[in-house]
Amino acid sequence: MEIFVLLLLGVILFFAVIYRLRNDKKTVLINRIPGPKCYPILGTTLPVMLMTKPERFVYLRSLVQKFGPLYRTWLGRAAMVNLADPNYVELILNNTTHNEKGIVYNFVLPWLGNGLITSKGTKWHQHRKLITPTFHFQILETFMDVFVAKSKLLVKLLESKADGITTFDIFPYITHCTLDIIAETAMGIQVNAMLEEDNRYAQAVSGLCGEFANRAAKGWLSYDFIYYKTSYGAKFLEYLSTLHNTTNKVIHERRILRQKTGRENVAEDEFGRKKRRAFLDLLMDLSQNENALTEREIKEEVNTFMFAGHDTTTSSTSWTLFLLGLHQDIQVR
Ligand code: HEM
Repeated sequence: MEIFVLLLLGVILFFAVIYRLRNDKKTVLINRIPGPKCYPILGTTLPVMLMTKPERFVYLRSLVQKFGPLYRTWLGRAAMVNLADPNYVELILNNTTHNEKGIVYNFVLPWLGNGLITSKGTKWHQHRKLITPTFHFQILETFMDVFVAKSKLLVKLLESKADGITTFDIFPYITHCTLDIIAETAMGIQVNAMLEEDNRYAQAVSGLCGEFANRAAKGWLSYDFIYYKTSYGAKFLEYLSTLHNTTNKVIHERRILRQKTGRENVAEDEFGRKKRRAFLDLLMDLSQNENALTEREIKEEVNTFMFAGHDTTTSSTSWTLFLLGLHQDIQVR
């Protein structure tokens, strides 16, 4: 009898909470914006959860056609207002009050911490000012031979697949190539993702990025207290530990090397050529010379560059190659 009463109370409480959440001021206001049907806990993700990845892509694009250039979706309890008209986007981007990032950025916090992508306000401004010079054209030029060497290796690997008949997924090849490039340019290390199929670091990066997408597609996983109790959350933590261990190790070893050799400020080699220095070295200079960055901040910025530098370039390169494959007249040109 007692269990029955407890269960009944639980059910009543559950519906009371749902009722309260559905009728709070913010929810009512957001729901005046058109958008797909919303369910408790899942938000508007129910149809997305049941779809394959290609179906998701088509479905998400269809929402603009259905609801217009301003529509709302719910990821669990988090409201999202989607803009698909440049005039609306301009209003937001020109406004410095509303530039805090949305909830999906919380998913990357355990990896990126408060790096440039996830920080805000004064911290973002100071770090942005410090880091911008590391992207000077002359510095980027010193990485050219890395781009060339890794691209040549990529072409060699693709040659064995390009028989002109069989289709294959180019994404893993590109992602391994961009990871190799960003690891060498951001951290100064060889990851060798292109050559080692079961490379742990590459698997952890891909796995983690896959988990961000997983959480953004399944409303119930957007709650930390649920996510970290699932097998997805456990896998996420495993990938995360691989990535943090690698960055910690690289930073630690570099610190020791700099102490030993004392060559931290040497910008040219013995022939007077501009020496290639990884992003991490430049950050360590900043930390040493200007006391501007703590060890933790260095790590956050390096991880941010690993993420920002590989995911974006992988997508754009893969799509470009896909389109070139579809339009062979352009490819020939
Ligand atoms: C096709 C390539 C790329 C695209 C489409 C792209 C796109 C973007 C976008 C849309 C943002 C804004 C994100 C936000 O504020 O939430 C951003 C920020 C950023 N990207 Fe990229 N990106 C690309 C390549 C790269 C590369 C190669 C790097 C590093 C090596 C990089 C590093 C960053 C960083 C550090 C930020 C944060 C900047 C700040 O807020 O100050 N990106 N990128």
